[in-house]
Amino acid sequence: MVHGRKGNPLDPDLLQSIIGTVGCNAGQERSRNSRFQAPAACNELFSMPAKHIWREGPQKPALPSERIDVWRLALDDSQLDKLSATLARERTVLAPDELARAARFHFEKDRIRFSRCRAALRALLSRYLGLSPGDIRFTYSPSGKPEVSADQNPHSVRFNVSHSESIALIAIGRCDNLGVDIEKVRRDVRAEELSERFFSTRERASLRALPARLRVVAFYSCWARKEAFLKAIGEGLGFPLSDFSVSVHPDVEPRIEEIRGDATVGKRWSLVDLSAADSFRSALVIERPSTSVATFDLTA
Ligand SMILES: CC(C)(COP(=O)(O)OP(=O)(O)OC[C@H]1O[C@@H](n2cnc3c(N)ncnc32)[C@H](O)[C@@H]1OP(=O)(O)O)[C@@H](O)C(=O)NCCC(=O)NCCS
Repeated sequence: MVHGRKGNPLDPDLLQSIIGTVGCNAGQERSRNSRFQAPAACNELFSMPAKHIWREGPQKPALPSERIDVWRLALDDSQLDKLSATLARERTVLAPDELARAARFHFEKDRIRFSRCRAALRALLSRYLGLSPGDIRFTYSPSGKPEVSADQNPHSVRFNVSHSESIALIAIGRCDNLGVDIEKVRRDVRAEELSERFFSTRERASLRALPARLRVVAFYSCWARKEAFLKAIGEGLGFPLSDFSVSVHPDVEPRIEEIRGDATVGKRWSLVDLSAADSFRSALVIERPSTSVATFDLTA
């Protein structure tokens, strides 16, 4: 998600332009199938490609081998009174360090979203691992990437999580490095300024070459693709953003163009755009030359 966090170099003035409240409000109360669609008044620029079909996911999913399962979760926090019983139940599965982290959030909505997302992650992993949600232990890489503790994970189940506002995506696969990212599109983003700062020379040139009407959505597509790659390798910002390039055009099959000047190494990786919700761009990266993706809604 594009926001300020410790270690993230985004400067607050630039952040203000991203985090401002302009844009389509996807948080309205709608039916389950329509809650991820933008209101009709939103510009068509922000609608998503109708590519993936999100259906209710299986209670007992088969362990993926070649496939990546991506689960979509609505983190609605609009009806706090109705949520409190659910929240109390969900929080019982969180580990002490997760509860402590939740308590550190300044805003209640962030606390709720983090707790709901962690509880959902545990519930989901329990379906793949055959463990109780509260028994799952996470270990963290030096840059903070969580994994299931090796002694509980004989089949090398891997996962990655991303959240942006009221939507979270949880990608689950096996063995290979994977990363997922979702970004809310904001019309008032200073795309050129941010891309000068965070994108590679090649990406900046590709962005400038696009028609102006595509640039905002291309900016977010590029951002989500880059972030998904960073999250797949798990080094966070230890891997400089200018050291690799992804394709920028929002409507053309995405790919990793080069890593440290090597155009062949990108072929080791698969990069997939996910059509998660109107007004959002999201991407999945896995260290494997090709992959199939199944997309599910996490309902209960
Ligand atoms: C974690 C990080 C890699 C991404 O965080 P983010 O975009 O703010 O947030 P997301 O919602 O997409 O992902 C957060 C989740 O990723 C996972 N995560 C944490 N550290 C991670 C890491 N080093 N690698 C991969 N995944 C990580 C966690 O599950 C986390 O969920 P949690 O907060 O509920 O524990 C962040 O530390 C970071 O450094 N981002 C780079 C920001 C940037 O400048 N991007 C420019 C792209 S052009």
